[in-house]
Amino acid sequence: MLLFNKLILWMLPILPRKLIWVFSKKYVAGVTLNDAINCSVGLNSNGIKVTIDILGEAITNLKEADSYKEQYLDVIDKVEAKGIDGNYSLKPTMFGMAINAEKCYESIREIVKKASSYNNFVRIDMENSPYTDLEIELYKRLLKEFPNNVGLVLQAYLNRTQQDILNLNNLSKDNLPINFRICKGIYNESPDIAYKKYDDINNHFIKDLDLILKEKIYVGIATHDKNLVNQALELLKKHNCETTDYEFQMLLGITPELRKSILEKGHVMRVYVPFGKDWFEYSYRRFKENPKMLSHIIKAIFIKG
Ligand code: FDA
Repeated sequence: MLLFNKLILWMLPILPRKLIWVFSKKYVAGVTLNDAINCSVGLNSNGIKVTIDILGEAITNLKEADSYKEQYLDVIDKVEAKGIDGNYSLKPTMFGMAINAEKCYESIREIVKKASSYNNFVRIDMENSPYTDLEIELYKRLLKEFPNNVGLVLQAYLNRTQQDILNLNNLSKDNLPINFRICKGIYNESPDIAYKKYDDINNHFIKDLDLILKEKIYVGIATHDKNLVNQALELLKKHNCETTDYEFQMLLGITPELRKSILEKGHVMRVYVPFGKDWFEYSYRRFKENPKMLSHIIKAIFIKG
């Protein structure tokens, strides 16, 4: 990344939130649940499913975990009442994974139980590597109780992912239907445990997807990388997949043309719809991925004033 872009990224937290919001709203449905519902209704009307996520990251005290749990339970009731075609995604550190893993399990269990009462589904997002084992264990535990209502994310940049796929697939011998989302991975991991180069990560994304499809595991193919989408389409043919065996997934506001072209080919598409008052950290990660967006911010600051 250019030095100037790095400088702007570094300055973002001290720039007026109102200015950052102008650019963030591309990636975030809004601050309220109503914003998320309206956004989801719009996507549904174009044949796109959603996965709704309340924005928030690692908490520092367990009271916050209770508050996030209550918010999710309320979101599920209201989203189901509106008949939205969508499911839910969440991050375990919002429920205290880093403070008390058992309490985190209990909170997420309540959320999955609520989703299961509507025959719906919760995806456990994968966070940075200190949580990989904990989040896999959490998934395994929930899967036993709610076999059709919970899924996990795997990150292609981690060296361990092929082995994780094989280990988790052992659970399907107990008739537990494994359900993955495969993505590249967004956290800054050490080269000791993760691939760092674009080509290496892409090669492993395809290797992981190939293994997942070979093992007949349902998969959400989460990428905006056209090159990976094309290779994924080839793999779907190679494994004679039906449209019920997989779905494509994208983040709100990214590569809408690619999204449309996948949809027009008859594949299932699901868009990640994040909302909430903690929109800044999420948007910050999106800006980091997209230097073009940073250049818009630079123009807004220095040219438009
Ligand atoms: P890449 O970053 O190479 O982008 C490919 C192309 O997409 C770019 O060339 C550009 O055209 C476009 N693009 C990408 N980012 C953009 C942006 N911010 N703005 C505009 N255009 C952009 N990660 C994780 O660690 N844990 C998780 O649980 C999840 N969950 C998740 C769910 C879903 C539905 C998606 C799509 C992604 C995630 N991720 C994630 C994030 C994922 O790991 C990854 O960081 C991003 O998807 C970007 O990777 P791409 O595969 O899109 O490739």
